[in-house]
Amino acid sequence: MIDQEMKKAVLEGFEKTYGDKEGVKAYFAPGRVNLIGEHTDYNGGHVFPCALTIGTYGAAKKRDDNKMRFYSMNFTNSKVYETSLDDLTPSDAAGWTNYPKGVVWAFEKRGFKLETGFDMVIYGNIPNGSGLSSSASLEVLTGFILRDLYGFDVTNQDLALIGQYSENNYNGCNCGIMDQFAVAMGKEDNAIFLDTADLSFEYAPIKLDGAKIVIANTNKKHKLTDSQYNARRSSCEKALEELQKVVDIKGLGDLSIEQFEQYKDAIADDDRRIKAKHAVYENQRAIEAVSALKAGDLNRFGELMNASHVSLRDDYDVTGIELDTLAEEAWKIPGVIGSRMTGGGFGGCTVSIVKDEAIDEFKEKVGAAYLKKIGYEATFYIVEIGSGPAVI
Ligand code: GLA
Repeated sequence: MIDQEMKKAVLEGFEKTYGDKEGVKAYFAPGRVNLIGEHTDYNGGHVFPCALTIGTYGAAKKRDDNKMRFYSMNFTNSKVYETSLDDLTPSDAAGWTNYPKGVVWAFEKRGFKLETGFDMVIYGNIPNGSGLSSSASLEVLTGFILRDLYGFDVTNQDLALIGQYSENNYNGCNCGIMDQFAVAMGKEDNAIFLDTADLSFEYAPIKLDGAKIVIANTNKKHKLTDSQYNARRSSCEKALEELQKVVDIKGLGDLSIEQFEQYKDAIADDDRRIKAKHAVYENQRAIEAVSALKAGDLNRFGELMNASHVSLRDDYDVTGIELDTLAEEAWKIPGVIGSRMTGGGFGGCTVSIVKDEAIDEFKEKVGAAYLKKIGYEATFYIVEIGSGPAVI
C-alpha cells in the first residue's frame, strides 16, 4: 500500500534539492517486523518475518558524470552529501549515506560497475531507531534503484544478499540475512518462513480474524549496539565449534532440543551454553509456531511468542527493562494473544497480536504502566503486512 502523500513529497523533495524533475523516478522499500525466530538467522535457524506497509521512499536519477549525491528528508538541518564513484570508503563524515554507498560498493564487488553516478533523495516513515529495519530498508531500496537505473541482472534475493554483505563488510554490523530478506521478498498479507541454513522459504498467509498486529516502540534512546550484537554472535559461533567436536552439524539450527540436551556439555562455558540453548530452542519454537498457525491454532502461536520473549530475556539477555515492561504488561491483558520483543533487542519494539476489542485497553494500560515505570512514553502502531520493493 503506497502512501501517495509520501510519494509526492519525495518527488517534490528531489526537485527542491537538485532543481530537476525530468525523468526522476520514485521507489519504495518496506520495513519489517519479525513474528518469531529471534537471533536464529546467524545460526542457520528459522525466522518468520513480514514486510510492513511503512518503509523508505526514494527518488533517483542517473547523472552524466561520476558524482553521487544523497539527501534525506527525515532530518532537520539535513544537508546534501556529495561524493563520487572514486570514493567508496566508509567514513564518519558520510553519516547515514554509508548505507547507500556501501550498497554501491557491494555491487562493484560483485562485478556490477556503475558507469555514471546518480542523485538520490530518501524519505522514510519507519519510526527512527525502532528496530523495524530502517537500515535494511535503505539498503534494499538502494539496490533496487541501482538495478532499475543501470539494468543490473540481479534477483530480489540477490538484493537481500548484497544488502547484508554491505552491512557486514562496509558498515561493520555482523547481522544475519533476516532483515534484508524480509524487505526484498515481502508479500502482502504473508509472513516469510525462511530457513537461513539454505535460504529455502515459503510464504504463510497471516489471517488474523478479529485480531491485529500491534507494534509498541520503547523509544529507548540507546538501542542495540553493534558490539553487543556481534558479541552474541561470537558466543554462538564458539559454542558451535565446541559442539562440532561431538556431533556433525553445520549450525545450531541443525540441532533438535533432545540433541542439544544430549551434547550441550561439550560447551565448556556456562554463559555460552545458555546462549546456544536459546538459539536451538528458539529455532524449534519458530518451526512449531508456523505449524500451529497453519493448523489455525493462533493461541499456541501466541504462547510460543511469549516463550520466545522469556528466552530472549532470561537466556539470551537482549531485552532490558523497557522491552520487558512492554511485554510483561501486555501479557496481563486477556485479549493479547502473544507479545514479544522483535529484532535485535536492547531497545526497539515489541510485536503483539491483539484481539480487536482489546486494542484500546492494550494501548491504555501498557502505555500507562510503561510511562510510570520508565519515565517516558511508548508509542503504538497497528501495522499491516506489505510487499517488497517497487517502482511507484
Ligand atoms: C537484527 C539483525 C538480524 C537478526 C535480528 C535478531 O535485526 O539485523 O539479522 O539477527 O537482529 O533476530
